[in-house]
Amino acid sequence: MAIRDFRAEDFEQLWQLDQECFPPGISYSQLELRTYIHRRGAFTLVAHRSDAIQGFIVAESDSRGSGHIITIDVSPQERRSGVGSELLTAAEERLGAADCRNIYLETAVNNMHALAFYKRHKYEIIKAIPRYYDNSLDALRMVKRLKRMQEPQRS
Ligand SMILES: CC(C)(COP(=O)(O)OP(=O)(O)OC[C@H]1O[C@@H](n2cnc3c(N)ncnc32)[C@H](O)[C@@H]1OP(=O)(O)O)[C@@H](O)C(=O)NCCC(=O)NCCS
Repeated sequence: MAIRDFRAEDFEQLWQLDQECFPPGISYSQLELRTYIHRRGAFTLVAHRSDAIQGFIVAESDSRGSGHIITIDVSPQERRSGVGSELLTAAEERLGAADCRNIYLETAVNNMHALAFYKRHKYEIIKAIPRYYDNSLDALRMVKRLKRMQEPQRS
């Protein structure tokens, strides 16, 4: 498996994958996904094996030191083999390099797989957001506080 940046020709496959990964009301329309991918400060990483896309992550950073995971989607056939972890770690590294100190995300209250995944990656729940999704489902906001790189010691 390898990870690379998004290319315009990936779009249709990523959108199809998002439809497979999330139920109606949570999955993105083409316009929503396109808007997030191209938002200022956003980047999209794609996990692939030769031409087959296994998953992707969309994340963004702002100028105040906050990062945000917009979505992470792994193909159902590829789950529990580390693809999501590799994508999340690569995005966290990129957000850390952009001086983010905290990474935020939202996930549906009933998405137990995602909650287990994020807890494994040291995200903590900070609050519930009522009726966050179009289908009125509540979300949980989670955060991971990134460790700062150690300043070089003065001699
Ligand atoms: C959540 C998701 C991204 C995880 O991707 P993945 O490639 O399967 O995750 P990994 O294989 O890297 O899993 C790492 C760890 O997370 C936890 N985890 C992942 N999926 C889990 C599940 N279904 N049940 C319990 N724990 C799970 C486990 O601790 C796992 O380690 P282990 O396999 O050694 O036990 C994937 O299930 C997915 O795309 N789901 C649909 C979309 C979604 O819900 N996205 C997140 C909300 S934005």
